[in-house]
Amino acid sequence: MPAPFFTVTILYDNRTTRDDLLSSHGFSCLIENHEGRRVLFDTGESGPLLLENMKKLNIDPSTIEKVILSHEHYDHVGGVKTMISFRNDMEVLILPSFSTAFRENFTDLKVLLKEVNKGMEVLPGLFSTGEIEGIIPEQGLAARGSEKALFIGGCCHPGLEKMISTAIGVTGQTIGAALGGFHLCHSEDDEIQSIFQSLKKMGVEKIAPCHCTGFAGIDLAHEIYGTNCIDTGVGTTVEWF
Ligand SMILES: [Fe+2]
Ligand SMILES: [Fe+2]
Repeated sequence: MPAPFFTVTILYDNRTTRDDLLSSHGFSCLIENHEGRRVLFDTGESGPLLLENMKKLNIDPSTIEKVILSHEHYDHVGGVKTMISFRNDMEVLILPSFSTAFRENFTDLKVLLKEVNKGMEVLPGLFSTGEIEGIIPEQGLAARGSEKALFIGGCCHPGLEKMISTAIGVTGQTIGAALGGFHLCHSEDDEIQSIFQSLKKMGVEKIAPCHCTGFAGIDLAHEIYGTNCIDTGVGTTVEWF
């Protein structure tokens, strides 16, 4: 079997796959490419909790080149200061919509704060969608594969379908799988069902819902996707070829 193009490991989530790993409301995942280059997507709410999970999963924080923040919610950006303490040259990719108050946290630090406006490559083969408009603007990531790309979302506040359509445009590939928080925790069952059905029509063959997808959303994802719905939590690893 060839080596995966990308490996994604969930480090922070509302649920866990192992008793020794800690769960908490929030999201963070490590994305590693085939050359071993690593970025962190979101940081959860608590830096110490994130670090504890990294330690148990044998991930050295100083090996992370960039932290990419999906949006400014506390349960995604809370651990960023902890992370940047491990490396002077760590880049933090934010969005134009991030507040002045957030930026002021970094004025005395040597962190390289960069804005992602439009879709761009953040690591070879790994793309940000750029800032997607919504009541809460957000960026998602998409990792190119041999045929299809893997979409990764933090909360998907602007809408899962809208974020996946943007990811298709940015990568030039169909999205074959989607992982992350899909923010369906306040949606009615019929709305959730129609979103997953429309994802299937868009070519999304596999789904790995977590964080703010919500219990009903995760149950419906299992119902609609069957064995192509991956159980997720802290410690889940998805390989993308
Ligand atoms: Fe969230
Ligand atoms: Fe959020």
